[in-house]
Amino acid sequence: MTTALCPGSFDPPTNGHADIIGRAITSFDRVVISVIDNPAKRAMFSATERIELLQEMYGDAVETTSFSGLLVDHVRDVGADVVVKGLRTVDDYQYETQMAQMNRHLTGMETYFIPTRPEFAFVSSSLVKEVARLGGPMSGLVPDVVEKALKERLS
Ligand code: PNS
Repeated sequence: MTTALCPGSFDPPTNGHADIIGRAITSFDRVVISVIDNPAKRAMFSATERIELLQEMYGDAVETTSFSGLLVDHVRDVGADVVVKGLRTVDDYQYETQMAQMNRHLTGMETYFIPTRPEFAFVSSSLVKEVARLGGPMSGLVPDVVEKALKERLS
């Protein structure tokens, strides 16, 4: 059984995240989504709220958890075989490759990259929050449960 861990901020989860996670679910036996819990970073949604959103999106198809500290330690604790990350742009490639190489250096942990579908290449949590704060439409950007949570948080 091969377990993939999908780590991220997910503040909030977007349709870009959903694209990558959905494809990980079809490729791996077990998928664990892990939300980084970094109290020093001001997030719109708490780690608990982000986990709740991901649970609403996926139900029993995935496991959800949170972590702080080194990703490689968390991967070992969860019993994951690989980390799965999405790649949108050249900037993502540079940043993610460096992290993947550091993680492989630390413990031999492998990172598998899935190229984002082109229609989600411009979607990021930070831009979604900016558009939502300024009253723009969320259509095509986030799942319905996230759109509802954004509306409630910003009302
Ligand atoms: O959604 P994001 O912001 O791209 O997620 C980034 C995340 C949480 C996966 C990344 O910041 C991370 O792995 N943090 C853990 C810290 C760590 O292990 N750093 C050293 C190895 S690069």
